Amino acid sequence: MVRRARHLLSLSDLPDGELRAMLDRATGHARRAAAGRPAEPTLAGAVVGVYFRRTSTRTRTAFSSGALRLGGGLITYGPQDLQTNTGETSEDTGRVMAGMLDLLVARTADDPGEMRGWAAGQRRMAVINAMNAEEHPTQALADLTTLALHFGAVEGLRLLYVGEGNNTAAALALGLSRFRGLLLDLRTPPGYGLQPGVLARARAQAETAGAVVTERHDLDDLPAGLDVVYTTRWQTTGTTKPDPDWRSVFAPFHVGPELMARAPKAVFLHDLPAHRGEEVAAQVLDGPDSLAFAQAENKLYSAMAVLEWCHGLD
Ligand code: CP
Repeated sequence: MVRRARHLLSLSDLPDGELRAMLDRATGHARRAAAGRPAEPTLAGAVVGVYFRRTSTRTRTAFSSGALRLGGGLITYGPQDLQTNTGETSEDTGRVMAGMLDLLVARTADDPGEMRGWAAGQRRMAVINAMNAEEHPTQALADLTTLALHFGAVEGLRLLYVGEGNNTAAALALGLSRFRGLLLDLRTPPGYGLQPGVLARARAQAETAGAVVTERHDLDDLPAGLDVVYTTRWQTTGTTKPDPDWRSVFAPFHVGPELMARAPKAVFLHDLPAHRGEEVAAQVLDGPDSLAFAQAENKLYSAMAVLEWCHGLD
């Protein structure tokens, strides 16, 4: 049977029904693993390329481990491995890989146009965005999986996001804004907010779904009844901040016990890697309300769901 590959470059590529089906698949993988049952070999015979030009612990391991658990074969490439380093074009590289791979999981932290170029016109090799400059969609899928497993449903949750409006925040906003009754309140340092186009897309989705997405640049007047406080590292992978004084702009957005006390029933999420004492206090990250390490493990189950969907499995 010839499968029709599906690319996952942005959460916007996933229709609502397929996003929910993928979440069901991811939570199913998590429950199956918790029960000690191995995954079905749904990727048997498929070859997955894993190409990371930027550092990664969780995402690279999740997709590599996930592909192997699903019975797929694996080829991994680091930043020094391909002939792009000797001048071959990115377009030629993608074209050659598409003749040999079934799926390509890539982290570039660069212009998303490159991944779109690899995916354009490809029906055999599915391209998965494991993070680029614009969005980190597979992180948001792990986050949604964590919320679905912990709360039973994502609808109606009230989330506070504190930190840079980076690619993690973008994916989170584009994912969460699909769920009825949900509140996402982003508190980003002045000058480090969500890209206006992403915020506009998230708000448009929220209006359709009956959700609310807001953004402010302070920590005043937090919403009542918060279920989740989410933060992320201050130095997003692959980026630098031109302002030498950026730390003083970020300092008020530290998540410590005082902030968590303003959200007394909230759990804490962090996409990791974390820098204790910087964006988060150790007693919050390592405390009883933190789901950060369960969230990291859920990257495996959501990666398995992404691989299956992109490989054309319904
Ligand atoms: N959260 C995340 O993407 O982690 P890695 O950079 O380790 O993959």
